[in-house]
Amino acid sequence: MDAGSGADFAIAIPQQTSRLHYKIKPSEEVRQMTYVVAEPCVNCRYTDCAVVCPVEAFHLDDDMLVINPETCIDCDACVPECPVEAIFPEDKVPEEWAHYTLMNAEKSLSGLPTISDKLDALC
Ligand code: SF4
Ligand code: F3S
Repeated sequence: MDAGSGADFAIAIPQQTSRLHYKIKPSEEVRQMTYVVAEPCVNCRYTDCAVVCPVEAFHLDDDMLVINPETCIDCDACVPECPVEAIFPEDKVPEEWAHYTLMNAEKSLSGLPTISDKLDALC
């Protein structure tokens, strides 16, 4: 009658967990989500975002910046700095730019240099 006590399995994965983080480091303790640089940055690269980031989470690629999900502390400081609104919290990346989430992670973890200074924009 009382078998099971109505208890479900313990939930090990919080709802806000990022799929991305499981791909990068499956065994690492769950952490906050990252922010993502998307399409509007490409061939523009204003770099205002990198200047305000408190943890140097931005990395410099040829035509855009990307955010390192292992470094980003989810502070939101970069978002209002971007003149072309290219930065999104991981769970708010527009569908058509969804692939930028993994791209940011792969590029930033591939050895690209970090950036915290302003550069001349490309556009
Ligand atoms: Fe840096 Fe904060 Fe933007 Fe993350 S959300 S990239 S920590 S400024
Ligand atoms: Fe790109 Fe905007 Fe930063 S254009 S470099 S995300 S300020």
